[in-house]
Amino acid sequence: MYCTRTIQDDLIWVGADDRRLVCFEGVYGVPDGVSYNAYLLLDEKTVLFDTVDKAVYSVFLENVEHTLAGRKLDYLVVHHMEPDHAATQELLLSRYPEAKIVCNAKSAQMLRQFTGKDYSARTVLVKEGETLCTGRHTLQFIMAPMVHWPEVMMSYDTADKILFTADAFGTFGALNGRLFADETDFFTENLDEARRYYTNIVGKYGPQVQAVLKKAAKLEIALVCPLHGFVWRSHFGDFLEKYLLWSSYTPEEKSVLLAYASVYGHTENAANVLACKLAERGVRVRMYDTSVTPASYIVSDAFRCSHLVFAATTYNAGMFVTMENLLHDIAAHNLQGRTVALIENGSWAPTSGKLMREALSGLKNIRFLGDTLSLKSALSEGQEAQLDALADALAAELNPAPAAAEAAPSAVYNAEAVDRKAFNKLSYGVELLTTRVDGRDYGCIINSACQVASGDPKQVSISVIAKNFTCDMVKKAGRFNVSILTEDAPYSLFQQFGFQSGRDVDKFAGEDGPRTENGLRYLSDCANAVLSCEVTEVKDLGPSVLFIANVVEAKVLSRGKSCTYDYYHAHIKPKKNPAPEQKECWVCKVCGYVYEGAELPDDYVCPLCKHGKDDFEHVVPNAPKKQKGYVCTVCGYFEPCEGELPADYVCPLCKHPREDFEPAER
Ligand code: FEO
Repeated sequence: MYCTRTIQDDLIWVGADDRRLVCFEGVYGVPDGVSYNAYLLLDEKTVLFDTVDKAVYSVFLENVEHTLAGRKLDYLVVHHMEPDHAATQELLLSRYPEAKIVCNAKSAQMLRQFTGKDYSARTVLVKEGETLCTGRHTLQFIMAPMVHWPEVMMSYDTADKILFTADAFGTFGALNGRLFADETDFFTENLDEARRYYTNIVGKYGPQVQAVLKKAAKLEIALVCPLHGFVWRSHFGDFLEKYLLWSSYTPEEKSVLLAYASVYGHTENAANVLACKLAERGVRVRMYDTSVTPASYIVSDAFRCSHLVFAATTYNAGMFVTMENLLHDIAAHNLQGRTVALIENGSWAPTSGKLMREALSGLKNIRFLGDTLSLKSALSEGQEAQLDALADALAAELNPAPAAAEAAPSAVYNAEAVDRKAFNKLSYGVELLTTRVDGRDYGCIINSACQVASGDPKQVSISVIAKNFTCDMVKKAGRFNVSILTEDAPYSLFQQFGFQSGRDVDKFAGEDGPRTENGLRYLSDCANAVLSCEVTEVKDLGPSVLFIANVVEAKVLSRGKSCTYDYYHAHIKPKKNPAPEQKECWVCKVCGYVYEGAELPDDYVCPLCKHGKDDFEHVVPNAPKKQKGYVCTVCGYFEPCEGELPADYVCPLCKHPREDFEPAER
């Protein structure tokens, strides 16, 4: 039976997983399988993006037939001619004889070579920047030579901002039902296999990848659809950052890859002693036996680590075969810019050191750290000092002692030198902070949540105005949730949680809603994600309190765009209604709503922000003099004042400090 997934109404994944493949391309073990992705667009014209490996042709053809639902196939777009995506083309084209092949000239030539057939009469050749309109969608073609073969191209759907990336942004591993990267904990569970895929399949072609990344940088991208692995609809930037590192051969971490080839365990022993010494010096080591771990895994970590140590015994007057294979692979993948240290072993004529150096010396920007450490059969006690020296040299580069602080006069705080508006240029988000104490829920609006550590556990920080009641409650509970608000959040939400205090009202009164595992409330509407956090540190910053917390649960709730503080001010917060010049009226001091008329009923409630008559200012036409004061830039509260606001003044509504007020007249 067919097995498809819907990406959006008119775009369907029609690919398949292969978990029986032992070696991808005949060399790279894929213990977690691999996916071959193909996509079918159901526009006025129907478009199939690529086919699949012959191993999964059967379900693929069923997928296509089911998805077309009786429609004819108009186009097959060919992004890549490698047989893991092209082996089923011939079969597909015979089933859909009206389908036109959309490809570049190189692909057309390869199609002839692979099939021995002439498809030129049904081929539409495209070049860089050319487009194909299929109805609502328009596809623009982007050539991506050598990512991974010379004929590779990408397609960009200008209607829905979808980039079909061929092999780029793929990963090893079957999808196992998950299609989108946000349906898995990608950076914990899948990044290693994505790195192994990139470095081994495309790693040699860093400059070409950089060239196509530059082209892609000019595009607005909502969806990324690669030929292997997950579709990206959020957080693609985090993955892109990895590609920028990998394709520029920049190490991801300051650490040591220690790979050794040992026949009887003596070279391994020296490697182990070195690993201990490095660990004692605080250096992170990733260690492999080249006879046990396939080269593709070690190549992948060679791209990851900044420093590489290779230790190999001499064998048949050369270097041991598994080390020879590894170094050949590293050189073939064009690794650059690493610092390398070598250890050789040989009972009578050690040569492996010289040969390892030769194998790597042709690579760009490879620096050898010291001389090769040479063992005779086994590490002797007298050589421990040499290993210490090597460990010291590596540690000095990886964990350098902090440089002495440069003598400079301490900057003295000068209020005039700090323009408050400069802080508005930071791209704050807007979040609902929630917590729970003694069976009651508390919450307030914040704009300060940010991720401060991406390892495990991930950490976030929030800062909360000290006078906010929710701040006290977070201190007491030691845990909180952050619901990340989206642009469709209504102003009433900000009023409910931002313009009143939990001391006075129960902001959750009469409401029941979803809770995370920690029992705290979160928003299911108007939020695109929730983070559940356990507080690890509390720092009193005076007017605010900084909380640092481990994230213990996090989930994506929607595809809505995160609301920024700037967006809130521009689009959600009501614009101040200027007081009419001719009519007597009452103006709400909280939100600026204007009630026209001379008399405001005592029980009147502002229809926008729900504040009562006390919060309205009576405006009389041609009033001889406007009142001077300050307006809160957060909630709009107006404080009449002829002089300066007191230094410790805080907004009676939203509790923001004096710094958030600006002079105004009303
Ligand atoms: Fe997935 Fe280069 O083929």
